[in-house]
Amino acid sequence: VSVYKSQQEASIAVAGRIAALIKKKSEKGEKTVLGLATGVTPIRVYAELIRMHKEEGLSFKNVITFNLDEYYPMQPTAVQSYVTFMNENLFNHIDIDRNNVHIPDGTLKQEDVAAFCLNYERQITALGGLDLQILGIGRTGHIGFNEPGSAPNSGTRLVTLDDLTRSDASRDFGGKQNVPTKAITMGIGTIFKAREIILMAWSGKKAPIIKKAVEGEISGEVPATYLQLSDHVDFVLDEAAASEL
Ligand code: GLP
Repeated sequence: VSVYKSQQEASIAVAGRIAALIKKKSEKGEKTVLGLATGVTPIRVYAELIRMHKEEGLSFKNVITFNLDEYYPMQPTAVQSYVTFMNENLFNHIDIDRNNVHIPDGTLKQEDVAAFCLNYERQITALGGLDLQILGIGRTGHIGFNEPGSAPNSGTRLVTLDDLTRSDASRDFGGKQNVPTKAITMGIGTIFKAREIILMAWSGKKAPIIKKAVEGEISGEVPATYLQLSDHVDFVLDEAAASEL
């Protein structure tokens, strides 16, 4: 667990780690495979990466990304889609090749979802796996959209969103009734295979779930507790989120 004075300081540190990894691999002529997250939590990390791209020439030409999740159903052009989120908060401002960007497809027909999910996993595996996965955490203890009840070896799949998750998303959708009931998410097993995992959380609002995730009994009721079983996870927190530890 690393605790920083502020979200800003923590975000700069995480962005620095991502940049160092990209540079190290690029120098060896290798691609960096990143697992990315949405939500308010990583926004300043992305802002710092954009700054490094613009001011320091950090290039994303050798970077391949896989996003954790997407609402289902969801049109990529919708303001609430994670495609829109990633474009606005990162991809529109850096030199990444759009062919290297992967986000679960919220427009699939239900009968095509399983094959899509299997292929998502295969694409990650074919590239040698995720070098680094960044995560936020939902108040249910979800990572990605792996809600309570998710299995530790779960793969990318269609899931039903928890009621609390839908309440938390209701502002973005102008009311809970408009929040999709489902999502496509990488699984706990997919996340676990990443060579490095960074889970970030800011503010006192996240303090109770961070206490459970870091110190609570390992259980599918709080999926983030599975991270305790991994030796390559960093919980990066601000003081407020760490206040109950
Ligand atoms: C969403 C995302 C998660 C994210 C969580 C927390 O449900 N699917 O990946 O970690 O919300 O969001 P926020 O960072 O806005 O608190």
